[in-house]
Amino acid sequence: MITMNEYASRRKALMQKIGPSGMVILPAAPQLFRNGETEHAYRQNSDFYYLTGFNEPDAVMILLPGRKEGEYILFNRPRDRDHEIWNGRRAGQEGACKEFLADQAFPITELERLLPDLIMGREAIHYPLGLNKEFDEVLFRIINQLRAKIRSGAQAPLTFADITPTLHEMRLFKSPAEIATIQKAIDITEKAHLRAIRACRPGMYEYELEAELMYEFVRHGARFPAYGSIIGTGANACVLHYVTNNQRIQDGELVLIDAGAEYQNYAADITRTFPANGHFSGEQRAIYELVLAAQLAAIAALKPGISWTIAQDIIVKIMTQGLIDLGLLKGRLDDLIASHAYTPFYMHRSGHWLGLDVHDVGRYKVGDNWRLLQPGHLFTVEPGIYISADLPVDPRWHNIGVRIEDNVLITEKGCEVLSHRIPKTVADIQALMAK
Ligand code: GLY
Ligand code: MN
Ligand code: MN
Repeated sequence: MITMNEYASRRKALMQKIGPSGMVILPAAPQLFRNGETEHAYRQNSDFYYLTGFNEPDAVMILLPGRKEGEYILFNRPRDRDHEIWNGRRAGQEGACKEFLADQAFPITELERLLPDLIMGREAIHYPLGLNKEFDEVLFRIINQLRAKIRSGAQAPLTFADITPTLHEMRLFKSPAEIATIQKAIDITEKAHLRAIRACRPGMYEYELEAELMYEFVRHGARFPAYGSIIGTGANACVLHYVTNNQRIQDGELVLIDAGAEYQNYAADITRTFPANGHFSGEQRAIYELVLAAQLAAIAALKPGISWTIAQDIIVKIMTQGLIDLGLLKGRLDDLIASHAYTPFYMHRSGHWLGLDVHDVGRYKVGDNWRLLQPGHLFTVEPGIYISADLPVDPRWHNIGVRIEDNVLITEKGCEVLSHRIPKTVADIQALMAK
């Protein structure tokens, strides 16, 4: 649970970064309709949520460092009995101040009238440039009005700055409360993966395993997956972002499940691969053990002060050597690594930051250099080998797709695998499926 005080201290930290002459303007995510005007649950913009904890659409957050009447203004929807009967409670302006710690709150309909006065005298507007076209127009209209009044003493801001790099640097370092929330998303995801792996039988459809996952997600308070769940059998396991999930699981195939719960807007992102019938074939096992060895070696190397790219370097080295040993690549290790010969089998990066967004924000490079890991960085380690049927190798390897993905936190001393309880050795997976 992230407290309202934590949101307040994030806002304070951001205001300190932008300085006393700046201001921040951040619009909430619009309410999107998936199909016509059918209501679906609202998902807040992650930057907006990070700074406010406020989960309603039609809202704009304003931060004005040093302003006497209050530094945090929320424009939001007013209370409205009719609307609330149809669509549920709104915080309103009173709730914005009492529950969400805004210093002042005004109805969103007042934004265009009040914003010019709030902007006047500020030298820089920090804003997510280009994110929301409609809101860009409102803002530029106001700026033009201010410019037209310059001779009567109004002062338009001198600079527009993109708020996102500053904000995203903050989001990259996870607080204890954020780590606990992500751990909860992971714990729910663990139950879901266990349930789906146990339920799997040849002859089932991929979506039946998706249902097993969703059952555990929803019943533990994670109403939605953090991304479209991937349940790929056989050839489908070789399609990286396969979400069709409508094929029948055949005896002798591998099943790849890449699924994570979203809990209080934070994501888990976990992949396990297992044999549909509970027993790895020789070829499946050989590829699986190779991916697992690469993943474990990469994780073992993670600690503060080391380059973000260490995981990819280790994975590439171990998997390329393994592919040589299995006769799937031919040549010298160094040459094959230098020529990226592994890419027909392994074509993605070792992982990505994880947080409010599944592919979370924050730079991977600082200037020309890859980032060095620091405590509070949280990311995935997800090597995979995918042997699609069009690769020119012995057909006994075809349609083997394996990915193993865990969620890892950098700590003071090294790292912690937050998803370590979900089985991933061949023995543990076969034992789980034998029950
Ligand atoms: N589930 C998407 C990914 O692993 O990046
Ligand atoms: Mn994933
Ligand atoms: Mn991932």
